[in-house]
Amino acid sequence: MSIRSVGVLGCGLMGSGIAQVSAHAGFPTVVREVAQAPLDKGLAAIRKFLQGGVDKGKLAAADMDRTLANLRGTTELSELAGCDLVIEAVSENLTLKRELIGAIDDVCGPATIVASNTSSLSITELSTFTRRPERFIGLHFFNPVPLMKLVEVVKTLRTAPGVAEDAADWCRAVGKIVVIVGDSTGFVVNRLLVPYMLDAIRVYEQGLASRDDIDNAMKLGCGYPMGPLLLGDYVGLDTTYSIAQIMFDEFREPRFAPPPLLKRLVLAGHHGRKTGRGFYDWSTTPPS
Ligand code: 3HC
Repeated sequence: MSIRSVGVLGCGLMGSGIAQVSAHAGFPTVVREVAQAPLDKGLAAIRKFLQGGVDKGKLAAADMDRTLANLRGTTELSELAGCDLVIEAVSENLTLKRELIGAIDDVCGPATIVASNTSSLSITELSTFTRRPERFIGLHFFNPVPLMKLVEVVKTLRTAPGVAEDAADWCRAVGKIVVIVGDSTGFVVNRLLVPYMLDAIRVYEQGLASRDDIDNAMKLGCGYPMGPLLLGDYVGLDTTYSIAQIMFDEFREPRFAPPPLLKRLVLAGHHGRKTGRGFYDWSTTPPS
């Protein structure tokens, strides 16, 4: 495997998790945010997760120190120079991604693999923003990144032989299990998961069952780790809404259309765990 050092663009929910698993696996990792405040917030979340692991006896204190020593936060794009792999994990905004993916061309050498953690945008479209489309792929991680085992590795028609394989080797080196998928909006997991979550919101909206009964039904009836409404809060209702819109635009199928209740919650600022309020009240633990 040719990947020795890693850069991550964005230190939010996903970027911080990706930077954490990379540093934990021993890769020198630099994570870049647009400003100091979100960077500090993301780095604090990493420290909190690692400290939680130490407190639970899941992680040696020395492992935590080693992980933090491998991790560097920055607000400068130029600090990503020299990275063998750069993973873009900023919000699902095409204009922002276009800017950043283009800017990486001027910072990193031609051998660098550039990946996007997008959950729903087209990897092929994103690859048109770079001068190295043959070294551009999707690496779709799941939330919470340190605990979820899967990464979808997404190739396009233009990805050069060996690029996805090198990235997949790196994913395995950070402890993940890889599935290789073609470039289609939502890949495999969100193609199946998002309509399920939207249907759960419709069931709730139609008054078929209470919030808790819907979540308990799927948790206890199907053995899922959490119910779909709690999962929506966990992923972020704003994120779920934006993925649904992108998928509906692509496929034009009603099952991908965001339900009106989801739109209202998002407009009201009820984005789930990240804002303290969604289907659940996250100011209490466990949420109610
Ligand atoms: N350090 C190390 N290990 C830790 C840890 C820490 N800080 N915190 C927890 N762990 C370990 C626990 O000890 C436990 O290990 P064990 O199984 O060996 O005992 C394991 O991680 C699970 O942790 P918890 O017991 O604290 O948590 P739960 O069992 O309640 O599980 C969960 C939490 C993993 C979030 C689970 O509820 C779950 O899997 N939920 C579904 C999440 C999901 O579906 N995510 C995907 C969303 S879709 C997505 O991301 C795609 C995007 O595009 C939208």
